[in-house]
Amino acid sequence: MLDTLTEIQINPLSDVMAAEVVGLDLREAIPPEVQARLDAALATYHVLCFRDQSLSKHEQIEATKQFGTLDVHVQSNRSSDIPLIHIVTNLDENDQPRQTIAAKGSVHWHSDKSYRHAPSHATFLYALEVPDEGGETEFANMLKAFEAFPEERQQELSRLKVVHSWPDSVRRTNNREASDEEKANWPPIAQPLVRTHPVSGRKGLFLGQHASYIDGREPDGRAMIEELEAWSTQPQFRYAHQWRVGDLLMWDNNCLLHRAAAFDGDRYRRLMHRTVTQGQVPY
Ligand SMILES: [Fe+2]
Repeated sequence: MLDTLTEIQINPLSDVMAAEVVGLDLREAIPPEVQARLDAALATYHVLCFRDQSLSKHEQIEATKQFGTLDVHVQSNRSSDIPLIHIVTNLDENDQPRQTIAAKGSVHWHSDKSYRHAPSHATFLYALEVPDEGGETEFANMLKAFEAFPEERQQELSRLKVVHSWPDSVRRTNNREASDEEKANWPPIAQPLVRTHPVSGRKGLFLGQHASYIDGREPDGRAMIEELEAWSTQPQFRYAHQWRVGDLLMWDNNCLLHRAAAFDGDRYRRLMHRTVTQGQVPY
């Protein structure tokens, strides 16, 4: 088994980011030398696609633990019998595909749990059913976007803080007021607008759906966030993952934004299981 595991292939999926990992069964313990290759690949490609996986919920949890400490979820569009697994789907309680449910998906650019003091480190999304068309997961590389700015602009941005706010995010995108419990758990928090990647030390913008305003510059700080997001999500900084059943996608929230692309939610089924690992306070 060890010989088989060490013969994995890591193949780039685009020039911007992402690589596929072929020949690794995540139900097995990952040998240290393979883990070292995967860690290096994640630092280089930011998105790793483990092909041809076959994971129960418990097996996905165990697989995720090999990469970090599991984090809990705060909301789900369909209840999961195992709270550590978030079910991402457009299927209703009768197992029927619904566009109304698909439309509630994560269609805005975001970084998972960026409204928390310590946002998620990595997200793991495992595909059980995928649409024939659409429904890709799109990523934007915030390191490349920042590095493409002139040095003067980089320095100016590096002096700023951005307030990430769950209550403001749900008001803007879900058109509802956060509950008192949500407001108490996730008050607005000022984070560095330019964060340092905890592994590579590279600098990247820290933005997304939950980024509310530039600290000290409200109300026009919102316009600056939108300008920076438009810059960061240009085609040259982007990768769209075309899903295959059995893909387990692992991505690095420290340096990426992501969103789900639209698909015909009344026609196609999309079912995925998500786990996340705890990150550290951005700096
Ligand atoms: Fe997400």
